[in-house]
Amino acid sequence: MGQSQCQSAMVPPATLSASPSAVDPALQGSGEGPAIKEPVKDTILTPRFYTTDFEAMAAMDLRPNEAELEAICEEFRKDYNRHHFVRNDEFEGAADKLDPETRQVFVEFLEQSCTSEFSGFLLYKELSRRIKQTNPLLAECFAHMARDEARHAGFLNKAMTDFGMQLDLGFLTANKNYTKFSPEHIFYATYLSEKIGYWRYIMIYRHLEKNPESKIFPIFNFFENWCQDENRHGDFFDALMKAQPDTVRGWKARLWCRFFLLAVFATMYVRDVARKEFYEALGLDARAYDKAVIIKTNETTARVFPVVLDVENPRFWERLERLVGNNAALSKADAASAPAPLKLLRKLPFWAANALEMAKLFLMAPIRSEQFQPAVR
Ligand SMILES: [Fe+2]
Ligand SMILES: [Fe+2]
Repeated sequence: MGQSQCQSAMVPPATLSASPSAVDPALQGSGEGPAIKEPVKDTILTPRFYTTDFEAMAAMDLRPNEAELEAICEEFRKDYNRHHFVRNDEFEGAADKLDPETRQVFVEFLEQSCTSEFSGFLLYKELSRRIKQTNPLLAECFAHMARDEARHAGFLNKAMTDFGMQLDLGFLTANKNYTKFSPEHIFYATYLSEKIGYWRYIMIYRHLEKNPESKIFPIFNFFENWCQDENRHGDFFDALMKAQPDTVRGWKARLWCRFFLLAVFATMYVRDVARKEFYEALGLDARAYDKAVIIKTNETTARVFPVVLDVENPRFWERLERLVGNNAALSKADAASAPAPLKLLRKLPFWAANALEMAKLFLMAPIRSEQFQPAVR
């Protein structure tokens, strides 16, 4: 999950600032190294940070699906990955083996992943803190998930120190813009982000298992157990939506589910194609990889969302490609050395084209989930 101001969140480890109490100690890596990397500029494509209506969340009645939520909480308590995220000597010197171009795209990948894991940590941690008294079961689930995300973010941040960099998570916490979502929108967004995270990690893992020569860094060895955390987190939100069945029935829920599916899929596709060099370094084609991730996530989502997208329709992919084209034109206009008002003028038609394309994508007929996944519904 994710972000919005463009400021220096990336600092060399030596200048890691004192962090607010919200930052888990597990997240603070250590190490030494030079170089300050400019953070990736915040755009609509970079991860966002979320907040929500804590009172509404605290007041949530879980009784319609309490047994399943209790069972999921019991799984969280087992903490299967307690001893998983331990670095071994494979990491030693691994960073030096990357050529400069691969190094750059790989560090960007680490930064974006770390920000997104950290964004999950902050939201879950804050939720568990705010509803502790009134909704203990929900609070405990969020606390366990915050624990997992802290580990994930910490592990990624530690990998960044191998490249002489570190994300200043305290700075990030204090200086990010937070997007406020109602609880049901938080459910849609986080459910999708967990499930898509699961498919992203597992597909990279399986690909590298078959093509070990493309494993450019030992962090990928950790993806198999890691993605199981994300899968469990997704299942938790699935059970939570079933405890609040109004979040996944009726015309309003159908419209919002379509919207979130499209926003998540389109953002990922445009972003990944724009940094296809990273996927190439792993021996993957960004488009084919994203297509597979989207198809799988869409299929999984039909277990709980009332509708899913018609991703078998070739027009869906044609329209995503138009977004890619517009996005490339926008980046080009941005990079040009023209005065700001002129840049703006040059960018306007592409923004308009993007809005139109998104509207067309949104208006494509969805598929009712009961037709799509009759076996599990
Ligand atoms: Fe995670
Ligand atoms: Fe997660």
